[in-house]
Amino acid sequence: MNKKITIAIDGFSSTGKSTIAKLLAKKYNYIYVDTGAMYRAVSLFAKNNNFVGVDFLDSEKLVSNLDKISLSFIFNEALGFAEMFLNNINVESEIRTLEVSQLVSKVATISEVRKKLVAEQQLMGKEGGIVMDGRDIGTVVFPDAELKLFMTASADKRATRRYKELLEKGDDVSFEEILFNVQERDRIDSTREDSPLVQAEDAIGFDNSDMGIDEQFERICTLVDRKLIE
Ligand code: DC
Repeated sequence: MNKKITIAIDGFSSTGKSTIAKLLAKKYNYIYVDTGAMYRAVSLFAKNNNFVGVDFLDSEKLVSNLDKISLSFIFNEALGFAEMFLNNINVESEIRTLEVSQLVSKVATISEVRKKLVAEQQLMGKEGGIVMDGRDIGTVVFPDAELKLFMTASADKRATRRYKELLEKGDDVSFEEILFNVQERDRIDSTREDSPLVQAEDAIGFDNSDMGIDEQFERICTLVDRKLIE
């Protein structure tokens, strides 16, 4: 089978988009791009350069320094997916902290940041054979993607998943702050002016509040296989 399609996976935070995307990339031998990691890396850059305070983000400073940000994904054989590098430093772990999660939605409202990252994402996917997950993949980055999925789950279920992940990593966080962060990101992501999180008209919705990974993966593979023979 030589046909290579573009698979766009959008949806709310912690809906398991990246888990499904990684499994699809492995099965179909596609490139996987986690666009949230790119927004997170830009946020980490802002934090490391003190463009961020307790209650502010100096977006002008960040925008005027965007050309100093170089992002790349490098495949890690042992992990089976590509890790995020910011200016040649592996930041895969650092970008997943609650601190970065609390900043990233604000950074993602900045149009200049979106313009830079969308252009890089379009370049990565220009040959097809790609699974990309984020918030605007089916609406802005690849409006012509052959398969678009939109993942949702209740805020409570998503916060529980995220809380467990962070606890396993040894982070000292409370369930309440994780739930607040998930709800706050939903609000900011869905109401921002530039490329808000909305389901593309031709996207297939998936509420996985009560669906395990195996069942979701099986259903999605059926959709992919159908597209590959169309
Ligand atoms: O998928 P994630 O939770 O790692 O994404 C982090 C944040 O980045 C999320 O709150 C919204 C933003 N984001 C975005 O605006 N557009 C994307 N394509 C991906 C992520």
